[in-house]
Amino acid sequence: MSDTSEASPSQKAFTPVKLGDLVLRNRFVKAGAYEGMCPGGMPGDELLRHHQAIARGGVGMTTVAYCAVSADGRTFAQQMHMRPEILPPLRRLTEAVHKEGAAVSLQLGHCGYFSRNREASRGWPRGPSATLNLLGFLVGMPIARRMRPADIAAVTEDFARAAAMAREAGFDAVELHLGHGYLLSQFLSPKTNRRRDEYGGSLENRLRFPLEVVRRVRASLPAGFPVLCKVNLRDGFRGGLELEESAAIAKALEREGVSGLVPSGGFVSRSAFYLFRGKIPLRQMIAVEHLYRQKLALLLFGRMVMRSGPFHELFFREDALRLRATVKMPVGLLGGVVSGDGVATAMQDGFDFVVLGRALVAEPDFVERLRRDPRFRSRCDACNQCVAEMDRPGGVRCVLDDVHSGQS
Ligand SMILES: Cc1cc2nc3c(=O)[nH]c(=O)nc-3n(C[C@H](O)[C@H](O)[C@H](O)COP(=O)(O)O)c2cc1C
Repeated sequence: MSDTSEASPSQKAFTPVKLGDLVLRNRFVKAGAYEGMCPGGMPGDELLRHHQAIARGGVGMTTVAYCAVSADGRTFAQQMHMRPEILPPLRRLTEAVHKEGAAVSLQLGHCGYFSRNREASRGWPRGPSATLNLLGFLVGMPIARRMRPADIAAVTEDFARAAAMAREAGFDAVELHLGHGYLLSQFLSPKTNRRRDEYGGSLENRLRFPLEVVRRVRASLPAGFPVLCKVNLRDGFRGGLELEESAAIAKALEREGVSGLVPSGGFVSRSAFYLFRGKIPLRQMIAVEHLYRQKLALLLFGRMVMRSGPFHELFFREDALRLRATVKMPVGLLGGVVSGDGVATAMQDGFDFVVLGRALVAEPDFVERLRRDPRFRSRCDACNQCVAEMDRPGGVRCVLDDVHSGQS
Protein backbone atom coordinates (compact mmCIF):
# COMPACT_ATOMS: atom_id res chain seq x y z
CA MET A 1 0.00 0.00 0.00
CA SER A 2 1.25 3.51 -0.74
CA ASP A 3 2.76 5.66 2.00
CA THR A 4 0.05 8.16 2.96
CA SER A 5 2.07 10.06 5.59
CA GLU A 6 3.04 12.82 3.15
CA ALA A 7 -0.35 13.13 1.45
CA SER A 8 -2.52 16.20 2.06
CA PRO A 9 -5.93 15.44 3.63
CA SER A 10 -7.62 15.71 0.22
CA GLN A 11 -5.03 13.44 -1.38
CA LYS A 12 -5.24 10.96 1.46
CA ALA A 13 -8.86 10.23 0.58
CA PHE A 14 -7.58 8.88 -2.75
CA THR A 15 -5.13 6.44 -1.15
CA PRO A 16 -6.00 2.78 -0.50
CA VAL A 17 -7.48 1.61 2.80
CA LYS A 18 -7.69 -1.86 4.29
CA LEU A 19 -10.85 -3.35 5.79
CA GLY A 20 -10.03 -6.82 7.09
CA ASP A 21 -8.04 -8.37 4.24
CA LEU A 22 -9.78 -6.23 1.62
CA VAL A 23 -7.89 -3.31 0.12
CA LEU A 24 -10.09 -0.54 -1.30
CA ARG A 25 -8.63 1.61 -4.07
CA ASN A 26 -9.62 4.74 -2.14
CA ARG A 27 -11.48 5.86 0.97
CA PHE A 28 -14.88 6.63 -0.54
CA VAL A 29 -17.64 4.19 0.38
CA LYS A 30 -21.22 4.37 -0.86
CA ALA A 31 -23.67 4.27 2.08
CA GLY A 32 -26.38 1.64 2.00
CA ALA A 33 -29.29 3.70 0.66
CA TYR A 34 -32.37 1.72 -0.28
CA GLU A 35 -32.62 1.70 -4.04
CA GLY A 36 -36.19 0.44 -4.59
CA MET A 37 -34.94 -1.59 -7.54
CA CYS A 38 -36.01 -5.10 -6.59
CA PRO A 39 -39.39 -5.63 -8.28
CA GLY A 40 -41.09 -8.61 -6.66
CA GLY A 41 -38.14 -8.84 -4.25
CA MET A 42 -35.70 -9.79 -7.06
CA PRO A 43 -32.60 -7.66 -7.67
CA GLY A 44 -33.29 -6.12 -11.08
CA ASP A 45 -31.18 -4.74 -13.92
CA GLU A 46 -31.78 -1.22 -12.58
CA LEU A 47 -30.03 -2.19 -9.37
CA LEU A 48 -27.03 -3.46 -11.32
CA ARG A 49 -26.83 -0.31 -13.45
CA HIS A 50 -27.19 1.91 -10.35
CA HIS A 51 -24.19 0.34 -8.62
CA GLN A 52 -22.22 0.03 -11.85
CA ALA A 53 -22.58 3.80 -12.35
CA ILE A 54 -21.48 4.51 -8.80
CA ALA A 55 -18.48 2.19 -9.20
CA ARG A 56 -17.62 3.86 -12.51
CA GLY A 57 -17.90 7.19 -10.71
CA GLY A 58 -14.86 6.28 -8.66
CA VAL A 59 -15.84 4.96 -5.20
CA GLY A 60 -13.61 2.42 -3.46
CA MET A 61 -16.64 0.39 -2.44
CA THR A 62 -20.36 0.56 -3.07
CA THR A 63 -22.96 -0.92 -0.72
CA VAL A 64 -26.13 -2.64 -1.85
CA ALA A 65 -28.75 -1.59 0.69
CA TYR A 66 -30.99 -3.51 2.96
CA CYS A 67 -31.10 -7.18 2.10
CA ALA A 68 -33.22 -8.88 4.75
CA VAL A 69 -31.67 -12.01 6.19
CA SER A 70 -35.01 -13.83 5.94
CA ALA A 71 -38.51 -13.30 4.52
CA ASP A 72 -39.67 -12.17 7.97
CA GLY A 73 -36.90 -9.57 8.13
CA ARG A 74 -38.52 -7.38 5.46
CA THR A 75 -40.25 -4.14 6.41
CA PHE A 76 -42.36 -4.47 3.27
CA ALA A 77 -42.83 -7.25 0.77
CA GLN A 78 -40.88 -5.64 -2.13
CA GLN A 79 -37.56 -5.79 -0.27
CA MET A 80 -35.11 -8.48 -1.24
CA HIS A 81 -34.37 -11.21 1.22
CA MET A 82 -31.49 -13.64 1.03
CA ARG A 83 -32.32 -16.89 -0.72
CA PRO A 84 -30.75 -19.04 -3.46
CA GLU A 85 -32.94 -17.52 -6.23
CA ILE A 86 -31.35 -14.09 -5.88
CA LEU A 87 -27.76 -15.32 -6.14
CA PRO A 88 -27.55 -15.24 -9.98
CA PRO A 89 -28.67 -11.57 -10.33
CA LEU A 90 -26.50 -10.59 -7.36
CA ARG A 91 -23.54 -12.36 -8.98
CA ARG A 92 -24.08 -10.35 -12.17
CA LEU A 93 -24.16 -7.18 -10.08
CA THR A 94 -20.96 -7.93 -8.16
CA GLU A 95 -19.18 -8.84 -11.41
CA ALA A 96 -20.28 -5.57 -13.04
CA VAL A 97 -19.00 -3.56 -10.06
CA HIS A 98 -15.69 -5.44 -10.00
CA LYS A 99 -15.18 -4.70 -13.72
CA GLU A 100 -15.28 -0.99 -12.79
CA GLY A 101 -12.48 -1.51 -10.25
CA ALA A 102 -14.58 -1.08 -7.10
CA ALA A 103 -15.47 -3.45 -4.28
CA VAL A 104 -19.04 -4.14 -3.23
CA SER A 105 -20.61 -4.79 0.13
CA LEU A 106 -24.07 -6.06 1.04
CA GLN A 107 -26.04 -4.57 3.91
CA LEU A 108 -27.79 -7.29 5.90
CA GLY A 109 -30.63 -6.50 8.23
CA HIS A 110 -33.78 -7.61 9.95
CA CYS A 111 -36.61 -5.17 10.56
CA GLY A 112 -37.81 -6.65 13.87
CA TYR A 113 -41.14 -5.10 14.80
CA PHE A 114 -40.82 -2.26 12.24
CA SER A 115 -42.86 -4.00 9.59
CA ARG A 116 -45.87 -3.51 7.38
CA ASN A 117 -45.18 -6.74 5.60
CA ARG A 118 -48.27 -8.87 6.00
CA GLU A 119 -46.42 -11.89 4.68
CA ALA A 120 -44.07 -11.76 7.69
CA SER A 121 -44.51 -14.02 10.68
CA ARG A 122 -48.16 -14.60 9.72
CA GLY A 123 -48.97 -10.97 10.49
CA TRP A 124 -47.20 -10.87 13.84
CA PRO A 125 -43.88 -9.06 13.54
CA ARG A 126 -41.49 -9.68 16.42
CA GLY A 127 -39.08 -7.55 18.38
CA PRO A 128 -37.40 -7.51 21.77
CA SER A 129 -40.63 -6.70 23.64
CA ALA A 130 -44.32 -6.68 22.83
CA THR A 131 -45.25 -3.28 21.46
CA LEU A 132 -47.62 -1.29 19.30
CA ASN A 133 -46.51 -1.29 15.68
CA LEU A 134 -47.59 2.07 14.27
CA LEU A 135 -46.22 1.25 10.82
CA GLY A 136 -48.37 -1.87 10.64
CA PHE A 137 -51.45 -0.35 12.25
CA LEU A 138 -53.32 0.34 9.07
CA VAL A 139 -52.48 -2.94 7.40
CA GLY A 140 -53.87 -5.03 10.23
CA MET A 141 -50.64 -5.65 12.16
CA PRO A 142 -50.98 -3.26 15.09
CA ILE A 143 -49.19 -5.42 17.64
CA ALA A 144 -45.70 -6.87 17.64
CA ARG A 145 -44.79 -9.87 19.74
CA ARG A 146 -41.82 -10.48 21.99
CA MET A 147 -39.18 -12.79 20.54
CA ARG A 148 -38.56 -16.03 22.38
CA PRO A 149 -34.99 -17.31 22.83
CA ALA A 150 -35.69 -19.83 20.03
CA ASP A 151 -36.61 -16.91 17.70
CA ILE A 152 -33.37 -15.14 18.64
CA ALA A 153 -31.34 -18.28 17.87
CA ALA A 154 -33.12 -18.69 14.51
CA VAL A 155 -32.48 -15.07 13.43
CA THR A 156 -28.83 -15.40 14.48
CA GLU A 157 -28.51 -18.36 12.12
CA ASP A 158 -30.31 -16.40 9.38
CA PHE A 159 -27.66 -13.66 9.63
CA ALA A 160 -24.85 -16.24 9.40
CA ARG A 161 -26.45 -18.01 6.42
CA ALA A 162 -27.13 -14.72 4.63
CA ALA A 163 -23.54 -13.54 5.12
CA ALA A 164 -22.15 -16.80 3.70
CA MET A 165 -24.49 -16.48 0.69
CA ALA A 166 -23.43 -12.87 0.15
CA ARG A 167 -19.85 -14.08 -0.17
CA GLU A 168 -21.01 -16.80 -2.56
CA ALA A 169 -22.63 -14.08 -4.69
CA GLY A 170 -19.27 -12.31 -5.00
CA PHE A 171 -19.63 -9.58 -2.38
CA ASP A 172 -16.33 -8.39 -0.90
CA ALA A 173 -17.81 -7.40 2.46
CA VAL A 174 -20.99 -7.46 4.49
CA GLU A 175 -22.42 -4.65 6.58
CA LEU A 176 -24.59 -5.72 9.51
CA HIS A 177 -27.32 -3.25 10.35
CA LEU A 178 -27.18 -2.54 14.07
CA GLY A 179 -28.72 0.92 13.79
CA HIS A 180 -31.71 2.97 12.62
CA GLY A 181 -34.24 1.15 14.80
CA TYR A 182 -34.14 -2.20 13.02
CA LEU A 183 -34.12 -5.45 15.00
CA LEU A 184 -30.59 -5.38 16.46
CA SER A 185 -30.97 -1.68 17.20
CA GLN A 186 -34.31 -2.41 18.91
CA PHE A 187 -32.43 -4.82 21.18
CA LEU A 188 -29.68 -2.26 21.90
CA SER A 189 -32.06 0.58 22.67
CA PRO A 190 -33.07 0.85 26.35
CA LYS A 191 -36.42 2.27 25.25
CA THR A 192 -37.56 -0.55 22.99
CA ASN A 193 -35.89 -3.44 24.83
CA ARG A 194 -37.83 -3.95 28.07
CA ARG A 195 -36.90 -7.59 28.55
CA ARG A 196 -36.03 -8.97 31.93
CA ASP A 197 -34.16 -12.04 30.72
CA GLU A 198 -30.50 -12.28 29.68
CA TYR A 199 -31.27 -10.24 26.52
CA GLY A 200 -32.53 -7.13 28.30
CA GLY A 201 -31.71 -4.68 31.08
CA SER A 202 -27.98 -3.97 31.36
CA LEU A 203 -26.01 -2.96 28.27
CA GLU A 204 -24.18 -6.28 28.53
CA ASN A 205 -27.53 -8.07 28.21
CA ARG A 206 -28.86 -5.82 25.43
CA LEU A 207 -25.65 -6.49 23.52
CA ARG A 208 -25.92 -10.27 23.85
CA PHE A 209 -28.01 -10.90 20.71
CA PRO A 210 -26.11 -8.44 18.42
CA LEU A 211 -22.80 -9.92 19.57
CA GLU A 212 -24.04 -13.47 18.99
CA VAL A 213 -24.95 -12.38 15.46
CA VAL A 214 -21.48 -10.91 14.88
CA ARG A 215 -19.81 -14.05 16.24
CA ARG A 216 -21.88 -16.40 14.05
CA VAL A 217 -21.42 -14.20 10.98
CA ARG A 218 -17.65 -14.13 11.59
CA ALA A 219 -17.63 -17.92 11.93
CA SER A 220 -19.53 -18.33 8.65
CA LEU A 221 -16.90 -16.38 6.69
CA PRO A 222 -13.16 -16.80 6.17
CA ALA A 223 -11.01 -14.91 8.68
CA GLY A 224 -10.15 -11.53 7.16
CA PHE A 225 -13.41 -11.24 5.21
CA PRO A 226 -14.64 -7.75 6.13
CA VAL A 227 -17.62 -7.56 8.44
CA LEU A 228 -18.67 -3.94 8.92
CA CYS A 229 -21.30 -2.72 11.36
CA LYS A 230 -23.60 0.25 10.89
CA VAL A 231 -24.28 1.51 14.40
CA ASN A 232 -26.20 4.30 16.06
CA LEU A 233 -24.34 7.06 17.84
CA ARG A 234 -27.68 8.10 19.32
CA ASP A 235 -31.22 6.94 18.68
CA GLY A 236 -32.35 10.56 18.45
CA PHE A 237 -35.28 10.44 20.88
CA ARG A 238 -35.62 10.75 24.63
CA GLY A 239 -34.83 7.52 26.46
CA GLY A 240 -33.06 5.98 23.47
CA LEU A 241 -29.44 4.96 23.09
CA GLU A 242 -26.93 7.73 23.79
CA LEU A 243 -23.26 8.24 22.99
CA GLU A 244 -21.91 6.86 26.26
CA GLU A 245 -23.37 3.43 25.50
CA SER A 246 -22.63 3.55 21.80
CA ALA A 247 -18.93 3.99 22.63
CA ALA A 248 -19.10 0.86 24.81
CA ILE A 249 -20.90 -0.97 21.98
CA ALA A 250 -18.13 0.01 19.55
CA LYS A 251 -15.53 -1.43 21.91
CA ALA A 252 -17.45 -4.67 22.30
CA LEU A 253 -17.75 -4.99 18.50
CA GLU A 254 -14.03 -4.44 18.15
CA ARG A 255 -13.36 -7.27 20.60
CA GLU A 256 -15.48 -9.56 18.37
CA GLY A 257 -13.26 -8.85 15.40
CA VAL A 258 -15.50 -6.46 13.46
CA SER A 259 -13.52 -4.94 10.56
CA GLY A 260 -14.92 -1.42 10.57
CA LEU A 261 -17.69 0.85 11.80
CA VAL A 262 -20.15 3.07 10.00
CA PRO A 263 -21.55 5.36 12.71
CA SER A 264 -25.00 6.80 12.06
CA GLY A 265 -28.05 7.60 14.19
CA GLY A 266 -31.83 7.74 14.29
CA PHE A 267 -34.67 5.31 14.70
CA VAL A 268 -37.03 4.73 11.78
CA SER A 269 -40.15 4.34 13.93
CA ARG A 270 -39.48 7.33 16.20
CA SER A 271 -36.93 9.77 14.78
CA ALA A 272 -36.54 8.85 11.12
CA PHE A 273 -35.19 12.20 9.95
CA TYR A 274 -32.51 12.33 12.64
CA LEU A 275 -30.45 10.28 10.18
CA PHE A 276 -30.97 12.69 7.28
CA ARG A 277 -31.57 16.18 8.69
CA GLY A 278 -32.96 18.80 6.32
CA LYS A 279 -36.42 18.95 4.82
CA ILE A 280 -39.16 16.37 5.35
CA PRO A 281 -40.64 15.57 1.93
CA LEU A 282 -44.11 14.88 3.33
CA ARG A 283 -46.03 15.91 0.21
CA GLN A 284 -43.92 13.56 -1.91
CA MET A 285 -44.19 10.75 0.64
CA ILE A 286 -47.98 11.04 0.55
CA ALA A 287 -47.89 11.02 -3.27
CA VAL A 288 -45.91 7.75 -3.49
CA GLU A 289 -47.88 5.96 -0.74
CA HIS A 290 -50.11 3.38 -2.42
CA LEU A 291 -52.40 2.60 0.54
CA TYR A 292 -55.18 5.15 0.79
CA ARG A 293 -55.49 4.79 4.60
CA GLN A 294 -51.75 5.27 5.01
CA LYS A 295 -51.89 8.39 2.81
CA LEU A 296 -54.57 9.82 5.07
CA ALA A 297 -52.60 8.97 8.21
CA LEU A 298 -49.52 10.68 6.78
CA LEU A 299 -51.59 13.71 5.89
CA LEU A 300 -53.14 13.94 9.36
CA PHE A 301 -50.25 12.90 11.58
CA GLY A 302 -47.13 13.15 9.41
CA ARG A 303 -45.98 16.49 10.79
CA MET A 304 -46.56 15.29 14.34
CA VAL A 305 -44.55 12.06 14.12
CA MET A 306 -41.73 13.19 11.83
CA ARG A 307 -39.25 15.76 13.05
CA SER A 308 -35.99 16.83 11.50
CA GLY A 309 -33.15 19.14 12.41
CA PRO A 310 -31.19 21.56 10.25
CA PHE A 311 -28.84 19.97 7.77
CA HIS A 312 -25.20 20.97 7.98
CA GLU A 313 -22.11 19.35 6.55
CA LEU A 314 -20.67 16.46 8.59
CA PHE A 315 -23.63 16.49 10.99
CA PHE A 316 -22.47 13.37 12.89
CA ARG A 317 -18.84 14.52 13.12
CA GLU A 318 -18.74 15.56 16.75
CA ASP A 319 -20.31 12.32 18.01
CA ALA A 320 -18.41 10.13 15.56
CA LEU A 321 -15.11 11.59 16.82
CA ARG A 322 -15.90 10.04 20.19
CA LEU A 323 -16.14 6.60 18.58
CA ARG A 324 -13.01 7.32 16.55
CA ALA A 325 -11.15 7.96 19.82
CA THR A 326 -12.58 4.84 21.49
CA VAL A 327 -11.54 2.12 19.02
CA LYS A 328 -8.55 1.29 16.86
CA MET A 329 -10.44 -0.41 14.03
CA PRO A 330 -11.30 1.57 10.88
CA VAL A 331 -14.13 4.05 11.35
CA GLY A 332 -15.91 5.89 8.53
CA LEU A 333 -17.46 9.33 8.72
CA LEU A 334 -21.04 9.41 7.44
CA GLY A 335 -23.67 12.13 7.46
CA GLY A 336 -23.54 15.20 5.27
CA VAL A 337 -20.31 14.40 3.44
CA VAL A 338 -21.04 16.53 0.38
CA SER A 339 -17.86 18.46 -0.42
CA GLY A 340 -14.13 18.26 -0.88
CA ASP A 341 -13.66 20.37 2.23
CA GLY A 342 -15.78 17.92 4.22
CA VAL A 343 -13.74 14.97 2.95
CA ALA A 344 -10.49 16.74 3.88
CA THR A 345 -11.83 17.46 7.38
CA ALA A 346 -12.75 13.78 7.82
CA MET A 347 -9.25 12.70 6.80
CA GLN A 348 -7.65 15.27 9.10
CA ASP A 349 -9.83 14.00 11.96
CA GLY A 350 -8.38 10.52 11.51
CA PHE A 351 -11.41 8.80 9.98
CA ASP A 352 -10.29 5.96 7.75
CA PHE A 353 -12.91 6.47 5.07
CA VAL A 354 -15.94 8.57 4.25
CA VAL A 355 -19.41 7.15 3.62
CA LEU A 356 -21.69 8.93 1.17
CA GLY A 357 -25.42 8.62 0.75
CA ARG A 358 -27.19 11.55 -0.90
CA ALA A 359 -24.08 13.00 -2.57
CA LEU A 360 -23.91 9.84 -4.69
CA VAL A 361 -27.64 9.92 -5.41
CA ALA A 362 -27.14 13.47 -6.69
CA GLU A 363 -23.85 12.77 -8.49
CA PRO A 364 -22.92 9.10 -8.97
CA ASP A 365 -19.54 10.42 -10.19
CA PHE A 366 -18.99 12.62 -7.11
CA VAL A 367 -15.59 10.99 -6.49
CA GLU A 368 -14.32 11.56 -10.02
CA ARG A 369 -15.50 15.17 -9.89
CA LEU A 370 -13.63 15.60 -6.63
CA ARG A 371 -10.51 14.11 -8.14
CA ARG A 372 -10.64 16.80 -10.83
CA ASP A 373 -11.58 19.61 -8.43
CA PRO A 374 -10.71 19.16 -4.72
CA ARG A 375 -13.14 21.99 -3.82
CA PHE A 376 -16.09 20.33 -5.57
CA ARG A 377 -19.41 20.48 -3.70
CA SER A 378 -22.40 18.27 -4.42
CA ARG A 379 -25.58 19.90 -5.70
CA CYS A 380 -27.50 17.99 -2.96
CA ASP A 381 -29.42 20.50 -0.84
CA ALA A 382 -30.95 17.92 1.54
CA CYS A 383 -34.43 18.34 0.05
CA ASN A 384 -34.70 14.61 0.84
CA GLN A 385 -37.09 13.97 -2.00
CA CYS A 386 -34.90 10.98 -2.92
CA VAL A 387 -36.24 9.38 0.29
CA ALA A 388 -39.74 9.46 -1.20
CA GLU A 389 -38.53 8.67 -4.72
CA MET A 390 -37.16 5.28 -3.66
CA ASP A 391 -40.78 4.09 -3.34
CA ARG A 392 -41.70 4.98 -6.93
CA PRO A 393 -41.37 2.46 -9.76
CA GLY A 394 -37.80 2.79 -11.04
CA GLY A 395 -36.44 3.54 -7.59
CA VAL A 396 -34.22 6.16 -6.03
CA ARG A 397 -33.12 9.20 -8.02
CA CYS A 398 -32.28 12.83 -7.55
CA VAL A 399 -35.20 15.15 -8.39
CA LEU A 400 -32.75 17.86 -9.43
CA ASP A 401 -32.36 15.82 -12.62
CA ASP A 402 -35.88 16.99 -13.53
CA VAL A 403 -34.90 20.63 -13.10
CA HIS A 404 -31.99 20.09 -15.45
CA SER A 405 -34.06 18.23 -17.99
CA GLY A 406 -36.81 20.85 -17.77
CA GLN A 407 -39.46 18.56 -16.23
CA SER A 408 -39.97 20.53 -13.05
C1 LIG B 1 -32.89 7.32 -0.44
C2 LIG B 1 -32.18 6.85 0.80
C3 LIG B 1 -32.38 5.55 1.23
C4 LIG B 1 -31.70 5.08 2.38
N1 LIG B 1 -31.82 3.76 2.75
C5 LIG B 1 -31.02 3.27 3.73
C6 LIG B 1 -30.95 1.86 3.97
O1 LIG B 1 -31.59 1.04 3.30
N2 LIG B 1 -30.14 1.46 4.96
C7 LIG B 1 -29.39 2.33 5.70
O2 LIG B 1 -28.65 1.90 6.58
N3 LIG B 1 -29.44 3.65 5.49
C8 LIG B 1 -30.22 4.13 4.51
N4 LIG B 1 -30.19 5.47 4.21
C9 LIG B 1 -29.37 6.38 5.04
C10 LIG B 1 -27.99 6.56 4.46
O3 LIG B 1 -27.25 5.37 4.46
C11 LIG B 1 -27.19 7.59 5.28
O4 LIG B 1 -27.06 7.07 6.57
C12 LIG B 1 -27.89 8.95 5.32
O5 LIG B 1 -28.42 9.30 4.06
C13 LIG B 1 -26.90 10.05 5.76
O6 LIG B 1 -25.83 10.13 4.87
P1 LIG B 1 -25.75 11.30 3.73
O7 LIG B 1 -25.80 12.60 4.48
O8 LIG B 1 -24.42 11.06 3.06
O9 LIG B 1 -26.91 11.14 2.83
C14 LIG B 1 -30.85 5.95 3.10
C15 LIG B 1 -30.67 7.26 2.63
C16 LIG B 1 -31.31 7.71 1.50
C17 LIG B 1 -31.07 9.11 1.03
